[in-house]
Amino acid sequence: MNSNYQSNIFWQKNLITRVKREQKYGHKSIVIWFTGLSGSGKSSIANYLEKILFNNNFHTCVLDGDNIRSGLCSDLSFKMIDRIENIRRIGEVAKIMLEIGIITLVSVISPYRHQRNMISNMLGKQNILEIFVNTPINICEDRDPKKLYKKVRAGIISNFTGINDVYEIPENPDLTLDGTDSLKKNSKKIIKILYDNSITSSIEID
Ligand code: ADX
Repeated sequence: MNSNYQSNIFWQKNLITRVKREQKYGHKSIVIWFTGLSGSGKSSIANYLEKILFNNNFHTCVLDGDNIRSGLCSDLSFKMIDRIENIRRIGEVAKIMLEIGIITLVSVISPYRHQRNMISNMLGKQNILEIFVNTPINICEDRDPKKLYKKVRAGIISNFTGINDVYEIPENPDLTLDGTDSLKKNSKKIIKILYDNSITSSIEID
């Protein structure tokens, strides 16, 4: 980014603040950031949890790596520099969501520790829950929901996270989930954190 472009830019304060929105919605906003390998179950957990939150009248949104890469980030590859830019843009969108009072569930591989730290700094540690969906790669490969691992083994895809590209395991996530556990069990663990931290009131499951 060229910082010269910033010299004539002036931040516009919105009259409707995050606090006002949170008061109106009856819950706080937060970013729930799922990191893990392709096929680990990030998106399945995010969607399952979002449905529960939505049914409890919370304001939610899912930002999914594949979907974002179909639009906002369709110009980006899977090289390191582009993965970093992908995550930076998603972080910026999540930051806007925080300001508009939404519980945002982000489902992206986000393979590098430094990029996840960058997001945590960008949003503020208190505004993000980093959740590591820990699923052994052989299980991700067995699941292979998009048949991508098959393509990697056939030499059709390169730079594939976990096979021929790096995934740096989170050192200190807020929560580690076993991606082979049920969606309900994993969602309940996140719901407990939301409740214990007064992000939400109690949540009905089912
Ligand atoms: S990230 O590394 O930049 O965080 P992101 O979560 O947006 O990745 O996108 C990952 C998704 O892109 C995977 O779930 C998979 O469907 C698809 N994909 C295509 N090529 C690759 C690749 N080389 N490595 C990882 N995922 C890939």
